[in-house]
Amino acid sequence: MQHIFIKGTDDSKPTLLLLHGTGGNEHDLISLAKEIDPTASLLGVRGNVVENGMPRFFRRLAEGVFDMADLEVRTKELAEFIDESAERYSFNRENVVAIGYSNGANIAGNLLFRNGPVLKGAILHHPMVPRRDIEVPVLPQLPVWIGAGKNDYMCPPQESKDLEGLLTAAGAKVEVYWSDYGHQLTHDELKAAKAWYATHF
Ligand code: MLT
Repeated sequence: MQHIFIKGTDDSKPTLLLLHGTGGNEHDLISLAKEIDPTASLLGVRGNVVENGMPRFFRRLAEGVFDMADLEVRTKELAEFIDESAERYSFNRENVVAIGYSNGANIAGNLLFRNGPVLKGAILHHPMVPRRDIEVPVLPQLPVWIGAGKNDYMCPPQESKDLEGLLTAAGAKVEVYWSDYGHQLTHDELKAAKAWYATHF
């Protein structure tokens, strides 16, 4: 997968896996991640699917309607890519925290739904429930932070609430931040994610 790896200055910190929203690329979340943890290593990844020129992590049939077969294949591909990258760049595979926005948050969520606790934690900006047809594997005490907008029409509030419920039922420790805004990332949301991260990692 097309990507950028930036080695951090503190090897004890997680490697932050950065997953952009529709139309983004591997560079999109670099400055956000540096704000959250200036000493962590960063692995920015570009989704392998292109929709009308816009990179994504998996195909969709319509807005909010996912191509489940493609989601399955792409999630496996991403999981393998993380494993390979850990070897290639010598970072601790056991200490990877995902930061995803929108489409990137959705594939991060699906990674947990399909593969269990293969991440040390996750910051999910404006995610949806990736799928409702499987039982979520046990995610013991896995720290997950969700940023949601009360007026997000792309990822409606109920999606965030359902995701919180499913992850919590699987054993994850979920915190949800609610903004009064829509699908956009605000500075206050970033500040809240940073504060949560600082208490967990
Ligand atoms: C998705 O397709 O993952 C969601 O609709 C969010 C997005 O468009 O990125």
